[in-house]
Amino acid sequence: MINVSVLGYGTIGSGVVEVINTNNKKLKETSGEEIKVKYVLDLREFEGNPVQKILVHDYSIIANDPEVDIVVEAMGGVHPAYDFVKEALEKGKSVCTSNKELVAAHGAELLEVAKAHNVNFFFEASVGGGIPIIRPLNECITADEIEEITGILNGTTNYILTKMSKEGAGFEETLKDAQDKGYAERNPEADVEGHDACRKIAILTSLACGKQVNYEDIYTEGITKISDVDFKYAGSIGASVKLFGTSKKVGDEIYAMVSPVMINETNPLYSVSDVFNAVLVKGNMLGNTMFYGAGAGKLPTASAVVSDVVQAVRHAGETVETRWSKEPVKLGEMGQLVNRFFVRVAEGDKAKAQSLFANATEVKADVAGEYAFITEAMKEEEFSKKAEEINVINRIRVAF
Ligand code: HSE
Repeated sequence: MINVSVLGYGTIGSGVVEVINTNNKKLKETSGEEIKVKYVLDLREFEGNPVQKILVHDYSIIANDPEVDIVVEAMGGVHPAYDFVKEALEKGKSVCTSNKELVAAHGAELLEVAKAHNVNFFFEASVGGGIPIIRPLNECITADEIEEITGILNGTTNYILTKMSKEGAGFEETLKDAQDKGYAERNPEADVEGHDACRKIAILTSLACGKQVNYEDIYTEGITKISDVDFKYAGSIGASVKLFGTSKKVGDEIYAMVSPVMINETNPLYSVSDVFNAVLVKGNMLGNTMFYGAGAGKLPTASAVVSDVVQAVRHAGETVETRWSKEPVKLGEMGQLVNRFFVRVAEGDKAKAQSLFANATEVKADVAGEYAFITEAMKEEEFSKKAEEINVINRIRVAF
């Protein structure tokens, strides 16, 4: 019998209890053990809910119970999750978490603590919700140099951008619709400003290079400046706009960024719509491999967390090697990255824009008073310098 304790009975925590209860027989087959939830930690009461019988409000009950083998952390945020997770690992309990903030900030350190205590720290659900991507990166794509990872890593923004693309609606009204439908938080900043995707690409990049990528070093741009007019232009050339988290190796440098990108149907991520996520991994031998699925949501995310529980049971008494050391990575300068840009300027700036950006391709979409074009490939710093000389209404990186 394996006793699991779940920290936090919110969307993911309650999903974990549901997955363990619903699929108990299957979990016994896959892990070889009966898996039971012994405690749920939450500050709230859940009167009338069967969870009330196993509810505790004091973490020390879990930490000090030698019968608890595995702790599932589904509280979110860095504190107190970090302290609880560290204590559990130090007390010989494996930890499985969906918490990307915790993993991005302290992943390498918690992996070290787990190793020192012969247990495991697993975080499959921290990126891509239910999509298997952490274990494939760590345990499957091990024969390749990973040259690039590009993902649609945030369901909320993908829902908003998909709706804007299909319906021609503006950002604010689409955000409101997403909030009304429960696809966006009342405080949507972490999603729409790209912070959530930033932590996720930091985790993936750390795993790809085996070192610590500090999420605060990653250039991050959200979707708040994307408008219905941008989509009008994109539609006129068979393109769409997606929020990408990207990291790539160019020579010895690793570049990482989060930003909206204009893509067309030649890109495998073009058809990833609504709240779905996908991650495209390019290996130097493997080529492109895409992982696609439900990037958020109660049961898909809980399914990934419980797959970690199974993995922890299978590896009881040993630590699965995860290549992610605390050694910091110095990311390449953004200004050196080469990109193409879709640019909108006022009609009056047309001549100047044409003289600044030779070989640009005009984009026509019947928008009055504007001139829009796509530049040739150029360094980010060169683009920024030229763009300062004209009044840019908006600009979006282009990947085709
Ligand atoms: N807010 C996140 C998203 C939840 O929209 O993708 C999953 O990490």
